Amino acid sequence: MAFPEQRLRRLRRNETIRRMVRETALSIDDLILPLFVIHGTGVRNPIPSMPGHFQLSIDELRKEIKEVQDLGIPAVILFGIPEHKDEVGSEAYHKEGIIQQAIKAIKDTAPQVLVITDVCLCEYTSHGHCGVIKGGDVDNDSTIEILAREALSHAEAGADMVAPSDMMDGRVWAIRKALDENGFSHIPIMSYAAKYASSYYGPFREAAESAPAFGDRRSYQMDPGNSDEALREVELDIEEGADIVMVKPALPYLDIIRRVRDTFPYPVAAYNVSGEYSMIKAAERLGWIDGEKVMLETLLSIKRAGADLILTYFAKDAARILAEGRI
Ligand code: PBG
Ligand code: ZN
Repeated sequence: MAFPEQRLRRLRRNETIRRMVRETALSIDDLILPLFVIHGTGVRNPIPSMPGHFQLSIDELRKEIKEVQDLGIPAVILFGIPEHKDEVGSEAYHKEGIIQQAIKAIKDTAPQVLVITDVCLCEYTSHGHCGVIKGGDVDNDSTIEILAREALSHAEAGADMVAPSDMMDGRVWAIRKALDENGFSHIPIMSYAAKYASSYYGPFREAAESAPAFGDRRSYQMDPGNSDEALREVELDIEEGADIVMVKPALPYLDIIRRVRDTFPYPVAAYNVSGEYSMIKAAERLGWIDGEKVMLETLLSIKRAGADLILTYFAKDAARILAEGRI
């Protein structure tokens, strides 16, 4: 049957019918809010390229986490700005490091909020790379040992989940092994499995003070031209013990999210990264787009592509709109 009997516009006539046949819905349970934590007290440094986001000291983080809990956002992911940086990023696994303190503060303030920690070294190394430098490049096998120590120290501080974002080979295996050998076999790993060498991370590097001092991250993060390789990355991470696999960035890589979703029966997360956020905020400020509508369309598109979870700087904005029943 075709036109004139078939008319697809019949199911688009009003909002009620559109809601009834809509295939994808955004839910508050899909959202993970990234937060930046810094030493000090009473610190709430605005991040210029990310309006509405701040570097927060622990006391400010406690206020923020209460708001997160009240909004019903299920989880946060933490990034730390350390006091001291060195060649190997040793503050990353320090017992009293910034993230370790932050985890305890959150668990003490709002125990139901799930705490995920980003596991990487770029915030902690003096050179800003995601691992230890040897011969001008990041050395894989010594880096994964440090990452395992970092993940373990997050678990010891009370993290509910760890999320390695470094893109070293074998790091999920090394982290899973360290957790299992130390009584943390119940702690899941969300791996940044298909993480691209993207220019969309610019605002984040300002927020986390983690831009590389020389070169770039293309010897470890994925080439934007590749798609089959993303499936190999995801497959290996699952074999090594990943429980949730992530694609990052989200919007320019919706095709990758869909391929991963169709290929692997595992929860898929997508990271709607800093540059994706900043672009919408900037265009909104200029009065060029309706920021709220573009945000909702963006998040819905990421879900429609196949993501189960979305890490997004819009989490609070989206949660408010969902709570008000405006979508
Ligand atoms: C650290 C890390 C980065 C992001 C998350 N974890 C930056 C990078 O790889 O340079 C980017 C997040 C964002 O842009 O919002 N490895
Ligand atoms: Zn890194």
